Amino acid sequence: MTTTGTPPLPKAELHLHIEGTLEPETVFELARRHDVELPYADVDDLRARYSFTDLQSFLDIYYANMAVLRTREDFAELASAYLRRCPDQGVRHVEMFFDPQAHTARGVPMSDVVGGLTDAIDAHAGDVSAGLILCFLRDQPAADAEATLRAAEPFLDRIVGVGLDSAEVGHPPSGFAAVFGKARALGLEPVAHAGEEGPPSYVREALDDLGVRRVDHGIRAIEDDELVARLARDRTPLTVCPLSNVRLGAVPGIGLHPLPEMLAAGLNVSVHSDDPAYFGGYVDENYAAVRDGLGFGDDELRTLAVNSFESSFLDEPTRTALADQARRWHL
Ligand code: ADE
Ligand code: ZN
Repeated sequence: MTTTGTPPLPKAELHLHIEGTLEPETVFELARRHDVELPYADVDDLRARYSFTDLQSFLDIYYANMAVLRTREDFAELASAYLRRCPDQGVRHVEMFFDPQAHTARGVPMSDVVGGLTDAIDAHAGDVSAGLILCFLRDQPAADAEATLRAAEPFLDRIVGVGLDSAEVGHPPSGFAAVFGKARALGLEPVAHAGEEGPPSYVREALDDLGVRRVDHGIRAIEDDELVARLARDRTPLTVCPLSNVRLGAVPGIGLHPLPEMLAAGLNVSVHSDDPAYFGGYVDENYAAVRDGLGFGDDELRTLAVNSFESSFLDEPTRTALADQARRWHL
């Protein structure tokens, strides 16, 4: 959180799709650069379409807008624009998702996607540390996920983990057990979106069948007492994205978000931004949303930020040092 005149609360961003930072102005700029014809009159027309009814209604426009990302430079500019925002947001470390299948399917080589993102990460390394999490699209066949993992093998020194995203309902984690097994054997950290729109059983499958170290969203876990007890016992991180949940209708309003109940149940929750160019704000705006909409005070905000570092894949001494900085904020 930013309070005038004081430094922002230090935090880690663990649930951010880099393609979800593609701002409407950039969509138009890149479309001009590459002569891509857009089905929108202008930036205002595009922004006016960002009124979503559910996850799929968002994904349709999210994937369509990606058509403007063509070259290594485009990916570098996208990630640079995001990383430039991090210091003001208090973000000290990012583990960013990317969706290679959405680009390789359009003919963009994996080397340009990863190369562009890592060019930006290296250029901003003095201000913020960053890692990449390669997401498999769960609404595509598991065989495509396997081919994507193979295509990424030359770049694994720059990739910290694998994730599972896209349309959730009807695409349970169990279908991706084999590819996650291969990814774990390659030393990649496994995470998965589960319990965003899907039932608590998907969260259980992510744990049991994919061996995930973190659950992305996981808000519907709260419907299952036994699952909550397990997640609390194991301190399994849940990366919660309040503005996303409101904008996609996963919760009826910020005041009804289950985050207070999740914290009270002893769950290891942290707050993140998901697709900030589409959902009305970056991570600090998500912290402001839980402060203003749920009445969270400095104690709760510090807990969320400490959890974000402790849930990261940073090495233990760095994790602990950054968590301590968050613990001391405003004290
Ligand atoms: N890809 C980008 N944002 C997503 C979300 N909120 N859920 C699933 N897949 C996504
Ligand atoms: Zn997400």
